[in-house]
Amino acid sequence: MSPSLQLVAPSCLLFLSLPLLLRAADYTVGDGPWDTGTNYAAWADNHAFVAGDVLVFQYVKSQHNVFEVTEGTYRSCDTAAGVLKGYTTGFDRIELTEARSYWFICDYPGHCVGGMKLAVNVSDGGSAGRGDAGPPPSVPMPPPGSAAAASPPGSCRSWAAWALTLSVFVVVNYM
Ligand SMILES: *[C@@H]1O[C@H](CO)[C@@H](O)[C@H](O)[C@H]1NC(C)=O
Repeated sequence: MSPSLQLVAPSCLLFLSLPLLLRAADYTVGDGPWDTGTNYAAWADNHAFVAGDVLVFQYVKSQHNVFEVTEGTYRSCDTAAGVLKGYTTGFDRIELTEARSYWFICDYPGHCVGGMKLAVNVSDGGSAGRGDAGPPPSVPMPPPGSAAAASPPGSCRSWAAWALTLSVFVVVNYM
């Protein structure tokens, strides 16, 4: 592979998947391990979640787990009832598929009561977007018409041209 192709292909793919990247994001819960020493209410307050976002819970799996629970169980920490799902891998990626509230706790004894609990409100990600829980994430965009704005489609075109040239070259020389 030529060096320029190696550089252009990833940026081309990135450009093509940008709309996808803007819609959904992965969030490491608490920006660190899922544990008893983190203020998850404060963390959730600083984020605005939209449907399609993914929460990633990272923890030592013999020490914690993640239960999705009802609001009542989130408040009581009593998992005799109100458990919707359990996750135990130590690296749980949970997609927030719907615009609704979600509640998660750790079911190890004392952990939920000790604050290992997370409540998030998820919005639909439509035009109302990331809503009133904070400023929308700003993605720096060059002004339309500028050279930088025009460059991604250009690199994609040149990337396609490269691929075509390369395959013609291969066909002509090796077939
Ligand atoms: C979610 O929304 C409800 C209703 O607006 C609100 O009472 C609650 O505090 C919110 N929870 C979070 C974690 O933002």
